[in-house]
Amino acid sequence: MSAIRDTKVVDGVYWVGAVDWTIRHFHGYTYTTPLGTTYNAYLVKDDKIALVDTVDARFTDEMLERVRSLVDPSKIDYVVANHVEPDHSGSLAAILSIAKNAKLVCNERCRAGLKEYYSNDWDYHIVKTGSVIKLGKKTLTFLEAPMLHWPDSMFTYIAEDELLLPNDGFGQHIATSERFVDDYDESIVMQEAAKYYANILMPMSALVIKKLEEVQKLGLSIKTIAPSHGLIWREPGKIIDAYLRWASGEAEQAVLVVYDTMWSATEKMARSIVEGISSEGVQARLYRMATSDSSEAIRDCMLMKGIVAGSSTINRGMLPALAPFLEDLRGLKPKKKIGAAFGSYGWSGGGAEAVEKALSEAGVEIIGEPLTVKYMPFAEDLHRCFEFGREIARAVKT
Ligand code: FEO
Repeated sequence: MSAIRDTKVVDGVYWVGAVDWTIRHFHGYTYTTPLGTTYNAYLVKDDKIALVDTVDARFTDEMLERVRSLVDPSKIDYVVANHVEPDHSGSLAAILSIAKNAKLVCNERCRAGLKEYYSNDWDYHIVKTGSVIKLGKKTLTFLEAPMLHWPDSMFTYIAEDELLLPNDGFGQHIATSERFVDDYDESIVMQEAAKYYANILMPMSALVIKKLEEVQKLGLSIKTIAPSHGLIWREPGKIIDAYLRWASGEAEQAVLVVYDTMWSATEKMARSIVEGISSEGVQARLYRMATSDSSEAIRDCMLMKGIVAGSSTINRGMLPALAPFLEDLRGLKPKKKIGAAFGSYGWSGGGAEAVEKALSEAGVEIIGEPLTVKYMPFAEDLHRCFEFGREIARAVKT
């Protein structure tokens, strides 16, 4: 079992999760995790004992060992499942086979999902928004959060500790021996939290805003947010404010340039466009998608107001390496983006036009016509690219 610096979250609430130091891809291969991740489960010790969430099945023994260091797991009274997805429900069967008298606490959608995932006859205790379970001095209150990010998603709140356990919400994929954001490099945590939001929660931004308003209306005071991945927030305002910014589509006056190239013509165009953007004092970031991390480019797309995408032409369309990024963007529905397309061609054309169509389908407001170059850009073409970059930069500054 890996050494962990702190396992006490607050008095009577302990982290009993697992650290996955070596995972490099998540959700299949849709999300890169260069820093690994954690699966956070929390044990609440009171007159009654509750375990909130579990861990990926591969880490069941690690979780059980942490639980055993605090209590006899057979004495657990409640196991709360905030979410069906297997990275949090994977050890339910193991813990319920030991805690034979425990009730499995979840909402109706979660019960249905767990039945379909694990074919079981567990002893369910169904809750909904506002339901409470008194453990002794501490009370668990539940708040359903459908589609943040699955239909079954739910938050658990402990009023006496002003502690929110929002499962995937406010998480980051970082494997650490530290447990708290303030014990780590906060800039790394915010970058990873942004990547997490952009790749997982961005299409549900309207629901994020609604849920945060609901929490405010309910008057839930929150001192600590303990998510199911990564580090725990003891200054919750920082991540709540960031979620409000990201959900509203607020972005920096900066431009993301993504492209792929066959014989370097489109790459030369991309570099001149970046120079044009920079000449206006606007930050640009360039990704060649054939060799770049798509989930990081998605994060930067969320953080930057402008997006310019380009491709050489192949078979009257775009190069295959760029297509998955644009397809991902279409599903993630970024808000308030402006952008444009560019690319080279040999005879038929069609690459830049296909890129423009994909950007438009992702909800990006298109500025001007696609910028195209036949075969190879020379000085005059590169000057056009430079000016194209300047035009985009001026648009993001308005
Ligand atoms: Fe971390 Fe939706 O599972």
